[in-house]
Amino acid sequence: MARITSGVTCSHVPALGVAVDKGITGDDYYGPIFKGFEFSKEWMEKENPDLIFLVYNDHCTAFDASVIPTFALGCATEYHPADEGWGPRPVPVVKGHRELSAHIAQSLVLDEFDITIMNEMEVDHGLTVPLSMMYGQPDEWPCPVVPLAVNVVQYPAPRGRRCYALGKAIRKAIESYPEDLKVCVFGTGGMSHQLQHKRAGLINPEWDARFMDLLVNDPEQGSEITHVEYLREGGSEGIELVMWYVMRGALNEKVEEVHRFYHVPASNTAVGHLILENR
Ligand code: DHB
Ligand code: FE
Repeated sequence: MARITSGVTCSHVPALGVAVDKGITGDDYYGPIFKGFEFSKEWMEKENPDLIFLVYNDHCTAFDASVIPTFALGCATEYHPADEGWGPRPVPVVKGHRELSAHIAQSLVLDEFDITIMNEMEVDHGLTVPLSMMYGQPDEWPCPVVPLAVNVVQYPAPRGRRCYALGKAIRKAIESYPEDLKVCVFGTGGMSHQLQHKRAGLINPEWDARFMDLLVNDPEQGSEITHVEYLREGGSEGIELVMWYVMRGALNEKVEEVHRFYHVPASNTAVGHLILENR
C-alpha cells in the first residue's frame, strides 16, 4: 500500500527560483538562504520518496479572476512550468501520476471534499520553487508529483481547520491506494508577508516562530488560527500558511521535527522551512 512517511514545508518566494536559474545562490544575499537548505537536499536524497503530494497556491497563473476553485487537484499526466511574465522557468516538466490522482479524487469526493479536477494545469513558482530548493537543478525531477492548488489569492480562502481536515482525508486516500509508494507531502507558501498597500513589507518573526511551534506540536490548536489573525499578524499574504495545515493533517499527530530553518529577508518575506517525519 502507499504510505506517507514525511512532510516538508517551504516558502515559495519567486526570487529564490530566479537565484537558482541564474546561478547566484552563493552570493551575499542568497548564500545564507541556500545554506539553510543544504541539509534538506541531503535529507531529500536519502528520503528518496516515490512521489510528492505538493500543496501550493496558484498566483493568477493557471486561473484568472474568471474561475477560482478553492481546492484544485492535479489529475494530469504532466504539468508544464508556466510563463509568469519572463518566460517559463528552465526547470523540468513535472510528471504526474494519473492513477493515484484519480484514486485521490474519488476518495476525497466520497469523503465530502468536493475538489475541482484539473486534467490540464500549468504550474507556477508556488510549485516549482520548493522543488528547486529541495532538489537543486536536476535534468528530470526525481519522482512524480501530484499537485493540489488551494485558493489563498481571493477572499474567502479556506480556513486552517478545513485544510487540516482535508489533509487527513488526503492521507486516507493515499493510504488506501494499493501500489507500494512512499509519499512525501509538501506544504508551501508563507511565512508572514504582505506585498501591497500600507503594510507592504510586513514580516513578523515572533509570530512565524509561534506558528511553526504550534504546527509541529499542537496542530489541533494551530489549525484554529482565524483569518483575522493571519491577516493581522502574518500580513495579507500570510494566509498562504493555511496550506501548511493540509500537509500537517496528512501526517501523524506526533511527528519528529528533523530540520527547521528560518531566515529574514528573502524578497518581501521570511523563508520558513520544516522537515517532519512520521515516527
Ligand atoms: C513573494 C512571496 C510569495 O509567496 C509570492 O507568491 C510572490 C512574491 C515575495 O516575497 O516577493
Ligand atoms: Fe505566494
